[in-house]
Amino acid sequence: SPVRRLTHATMEKYENIWFGVATAMSIMLAVAVFASFLSGTVPRIEGEGGAGHHLEGVVNGRINPKNLAGTPFKTPGVVDSADGSQTVFVVARAFAFDPGTIKVKAGVPVTFHITSADVLHGYYVEKTNINVSVIPGQVTSFTTTFKSPGTLNIVCDEYCGTGHHNMLNKIIVEA
Ligand code: CUA
Repeated sequence: SPVRRLTHATMEKYENIWFGVATAMSIMLAVAVFASFLSGTVPRIEGEGGAGHHLEGVVNGRINPKNLAGTPFKTPGVVDSADGSQTVFVVARAFAFDPGTIKVKAGVPVTFHITSADVLHGYYVEKTNINVSVIPGQVTSFTTTFKSPGTLNIVCDEYCGTGHHNMLNKIIVEA
């Protein structure tokens, strides 16, 4: 029996169909992401948080990485404010974030202050647009609101050494 071959014109037709499907799916994904940003279900950076300039031991966003004990980074963790907002102090060091697991509340402004005790790290909160560099000698600050309860993974996304890929922690958002 003769081998049935696709003519050039037929192949082009199939290619066009698949190209159309791929384009439509890309557009639908982009619309879905944009819609979720608009509806505010995706946590995102709302403000830079002043680079921690009001913090003890921090001048113009700068800090001495050898003297974190003289700053609020001495006790990393979550601080509740009287107005219901929360402040989180995080120290990144090879190869972990301190504290490892952060528990915050949904629906309140949460300001992060992050610094490094050693080398350059990254702070990427998966499924959000929160993705900042953590630089020794500097404080990285931003404010966000986690809209709904859940667990988000924190990933170091700047190569920082042999344990880089183990630098994974969690944010637990509670109702
Ligand atoms: Cu820390 Cu990569």
